[in-house]
Amino acid sequence: MNVILITGGAGYIGSHTCVELQERGFDVLVLDNLCNSHAESLNRVEQITGGNVRFIEGDIRDRSLLAQIFQNNAISCVVHFAGLKAVSESCELPLAYYENNVSGTITLCQTMADNGVRNLVFSSSATVYGNPASLPITEDFPLSATNPYGRSKLVIEEILADLHKADSRWNIALLRYFNPVGAHPSGLMGEDPNGIPNNLMPCVSQVAIGKRKILNVFGNDYPTSDGTGVRDYIHVQDLACGHICAIQRLDKNCGIQAWNLGVGQGHSVLDMVRAFEKVSEQPIPYEVVARRPGDIAACYADPSKARNDLGWVAKKSLEDMVSDVWRWQSQNPNGYYG
Ligand code: NAD
Ligand code: UFG
Repeated sequence: MNVILITGGAGYIGSHTCVELQERGFDVLVLDNLCNSHAESLNRVEQITGGNVRFIEGDIRDRSLLAQIFQNNAISCVVHFAGLKAVSESCELPLAYYENNVSGTITLCQTMADNGVRNLVFSSSATVYGNPASLPITEDFPLSATNPYGRSKLVIEEILADLHKADSRWNIALLRYFNPVGAHPSGLMGEDPNGIPNNLMPCVSQVAIGKRKILNVFGNDYPTSDGTGVRDYIHVQDLACGHICAIQRLDKNCGIQAWNLGVGQGHSVLDMVRAFEKVSEQPIPYEVVARRPGDIAACYADPSKARNDLGWVAKKSLEDMVSDVWRWQSQNPNGYYG
């Protein structure tokens, strides 16, 4: 059977996607250098699916390793999650971000081309829309970047468009994720950020479990319903399913296409706090502090292109997202090695 190579498959979204792929009978091979993950996540994939996950610890920039992997496996498609993703870190270490994300993707695509593999699903981000002029966001909105992380995603999208222009045999899905949250409903897998988390949900759940005392709410003077930032939170399992639909679409020669993966609904920071308090039955003390530089007021998707082209819709509710995060956090207070 043809193999799906999952770069970054030990990470948060990658590991959840491995579960969905394995459960549908795909043959999965994970390549990850574990710079932001633990191999334990893949043991959990095996525990959930009862299947075996083949794993190679290595870097997408390692050209000879990549060549070996493609020569030794009948790879039909690559789902490319591997990348660095922390916005603030990218402002301090822009070259590391371009090196890892952009150069890594180039090496990967060169090796794919050398081996006649031209089906690619790429993890892009709603960050490529910059500060959108209106909402909801459709895929044809103007693109821009406000930080090196976002620019790395934008540059990769442009490189992939050039690649397809030069050789139309490539089929490329640019999946623009909105705000992935949630965890596997089993409580066995979830987001396990290194150090102090940057994103809202891990911060909220760490406050609920008592690991952090208080949540900083970055501004309550945005032009939104309650003044706090509004985002389109999407359950990581729904997101994972979007990748299966994209892989199936690549087989029908889709060329290069971008799809928004979001629910299509915005929730404020305080909506998330209240939802978490309700599910966890824990108070989430918070303090309103200054706006975080670079943040936008509101961002949510129009996901109708993904619905029409891929037959994909997000099914999980906000309550599902929050209860699954809480189950993961309470069962694994210290993450995978807790
Ligand atoms: P993650 O950090 O949990 O997963 C990324 C994985 O890639 C990690 O396991 C890491 O060890 C691996 N990796 C990084 N550089 C590598 C390299 N050079 N070689 C091999 N492996 C490498 O992050 P995630 O949240 O699962 O995100 C997956 C992808 O989705 C990333 O490309 C990210 O930019 C993108 N994305 C994430 C979000 C989000 O909020 N989580 C939103 C939009 C887009
Ligand atoms: N927020 C707080 N306090 C916190 C953390 C976040 O108030 O401690 C607020 C932010 O100001 C924002 C909202 O919660 O209004 C969401 O913030 P996140 O950091 O969770 O998410 P972002 O929308 O800023 O960014 C995320 C990813 C990016 C990705 C983007 C779009 O971190 O990598 O979604 O997909 F590009």
